[in-house]
Amino acid sequence: MTKVEEKLAKSLTAESTELIPYLPYLLQDLWELGSSPKDIIDMIANHLQVSEKTKILDLACGKGAVSIQIAKAFGCKVKGIDIIKDFIDYANKKALEHGVEDLCQFQAGDINEEVAVEKGFDIVILGAVGDVLGNPLETISKLKNTVKSGGYIFIDDAYGNNGFNETYYLREEWISFFKKAKVKLLDEKFNIGEELKNNNYEQQLLIVKRAEELKDKYPDKVHLFDSYIKSQREECDELENDIKGVTMLLQRE
Ligand SMILES: C[S@@+](CC[C@H](N)C(=O)[O-])C[C@H]1O[C@@H](n2cnc3c(N)ncnc32)[C@H](O)[C@@H]1O
Repeated sequence: MTKVEEKLAKSLTAESTELIPYLPYLLQDLWELGSSPKDIIDMIANHLQVSEKTKILDLACGKGAVSIQIAKAFGCKVKGIDIIKDFIDYANKKALEHGVEDLCQFQAGDINEEVAVEKGFDIVILGAVGDVLGNPLETISKLKNTVKSGGYIFIDDAYGNNGFNETYYLREEWISFFKKAKVKLLDEKFNIGEELKNNNYEQQLLIVKRAEELKDKYPDKVHLFDSYIKSQREECDELENDIKGVTMLLQRE
């Protein structure tokens, strides 16, 4: 079991790497796997000038929900990279379905390696990926190298809440990382309230249904799928009550 696999499992709320082969099945009814494409599109429209010449990199793009909807909204080019080949296949199908196959390029790969070679983008997005690229300072430094000077970085993560959850960095800690990494915080959009609760509830139902199917098919692995249902519920509770989901827009100085 490698660190990459451990972090991959964690990025999709799986407690064990044993669950990795089942993730495409469990998540087959979902397109959006973390970030809100609408929030990112709104932030782009409010702050940035995007044309068909703009180049965007979507790291750990999942099934391409963010990439495809951005390409459709702005007519710009988007490259998405994800380590799960099934997600990349799904993203390619969705790009065709939405008529943006010429604007979107999807590639299977480990973003730890890709950040070292992907360069010269106008905007980079890292949506709901946790610590795959390291701590916030390491993550921001790696993302900075993929964009031009003055380029933009979107990170979808969560701010911790003093006394509630010590595993997430507090907003003031993120602010000090921005200073150290020499990036400017331009905007932040919070993922809170009724919309979050409704989305979590709907996604939860779809995931539980698929987990139940897998429990019937693989009775010796019931514990594995039950623990996935449990960790999904805990993550939803955490997001709804303890921490504050946030999409940050940063600019490289
Ligand atoms: C919670 S999902 C978010 C997906 C997408 N950004 C979105 O918001 O819809 C996390 C994604 O990170 C991907 N991932 C985890 N580790 C990775 C790695 N080392 N390289 C590439 N992708 C990775 C997973 O396959 C998964 O698609």
